[in-house]
Amino acid sequence: MRCSVGGPRFIQTMSPFLVCFLIGCGFSGVKCKMIEVCAEINAPATLPCKVSNQGLNNSVHWYKKPNILISIGKYFYNTRMSFSQESKEEWDIHIRHVHVDDAGQYTCKVGEKVMAKVNLVVKGPPVIHETHNMTFEEGSTGILWCNVTGFPTPSVRWYWKSPHQSDLTETDSGAEGAKLVLHNITRYYDNIYICKASNSVAANRREIRVHVKFGPDVGVFQETITAIVGQEVKLHCAVEAFPMEGELEWVLENGQQIRAGEKYDIIPDREFVKDFNTQFLSMVIQEGHLGVGDYGKYVCRTKNFARGYNEKTVVIQKPIEDRENVENITDINV
Ligand SMILES: *[C@@H]1O[C@H](CO)[C@@H](O)[C@H](O)[C@H]1NC(C)=O
Ligand SMILES: *[C@@H]1O[C@H](CO)[C@@H](O)[C@H](O)[C@H]1NC(C)=O
Ligand SMILES: *[C@@H]1O[C@H](CO)[C@@H](O)[C@H](O)[C@H]1NC(C)=O
Ligand SMILES: *[C@@H]1O[C@H](CO)[C@@H](O)[C@H](O)[C@H]1NC(C)=O
Ligand SMILES: *[C@@H]1O[C@H](CO)[C@@H](O)[C@H](O)[C@H]1NC(C)=O
Repeated sequence: MRCSVGGPRFIQTMSPFLVCFLIGCGFSGVKCKMIEVCAEINAPATLPCKVSNQGLNNSVHWYKKPNILISIGKYFYNTRMSFSQESKEEWDIHIRHVHVDDAGQYTCKVGEKVMAKVNLVVKGPPVIHETHNMTFEEGSTGILWCNVTGFPTPSVRWYWKSPHQSDLTETDSGAEGAKLVLHNITRYYDNIYICKASNSVAANRREIRVHVKFGPDVGVFQETITAIVGQEVKLHCAVEAFPMEGELEWVLENGQQIRAGEKYDIIPDREFVKDFNTQFLSMVIQEGHLGVGDYGKYVCRTKNFARGYNEKTVVIQKPIEDRENVENITDINV
């Protein structure tokens, strides 16, 4: 609904209140014209009515459609309403804080004679109700709510942006309405979702942080590494998970944990953890330490992840041309 502006007078009072009215009825007794008054929720509003000396006898009545008595003379049934009566002819109703249900048609009468008809249109900017940040399981279906009130009824549209980039671009998801359904959630749904609500009065927005629980998923950069005896070897491993509750460790094939020392170096990189749900752990066999007995399997595995266990294996092997030779040497050793 829109308040139209026109007629003999247009009065705009204090911003941001949208009060407009036409002075339609006068003293003439011609058929009364409906005056439209717009007011924002919680703002004041004035419903105009002018009555000549007839008003003195408490004979002015205001009614609200369908047939509710609002006032008799100077007496009101509603504490938010009053007359200022700056002049004896003025029987304007002043509403201090307009409520949604104040909207409707009002009639100012003296006896059966209609002095003014006022349609009060209540307008409200979109008010977004409480929203909640959400955490979903990977593979599940999630629902985000953005419940909104306002008059006219606001429209809601959803956008999203990455929490990891300073880039402020907000991508339009194309989805509309208070409910956003996220189907088949993946770890890449870990974003900030923005609901934007707007109507003819104003616009409003709210951000909802979505986290996705997944992993731990372990990955290695190379599954097979070829090296000659004595060469420095670097093995890189990463785990992706949310929440990032545990850590990684490198173990020998027999399960013995590899510790940093003269032979091995263990290099954690936790820098990425916070932003990308990823942590790294590299293992180095230092130069001069790779012996014949060091060829074989190395396992990078998770430790202390409540959500599960995961591991990946890296094989360090001899170069092809050396393989037979080395085997023969090994045989001799045994
Ligand atoms: C108001 O009261 C006065 C005196 O009591 C009377 O003369 C007049 O007719 C009344 N007016 C109306 C509209 O009733
Ligand atoms: C939602 O998450 C954002 C960003 O992490 C945070 O600033 C905000 O306080 C959270 N809101 C609630 C209601 O927890
Ligand atoms: C939003 O409204 C729907 C129904 O209209 C209700 O089921 C849901 O719980 C509400 N969400 C919030 C966060 O209030
Ligand atoms: C859900 O996503 C997973 C992984 O991306 C995919 O394998 C699966 O087919 C998807 N299921 C549906 C119903 O889209
Ligand atoms: C290594 O041993 C194999 C048999 O086990 C033999 O055939 C091969 O010739 C040996 N290679 C060398 C370089 O001695």
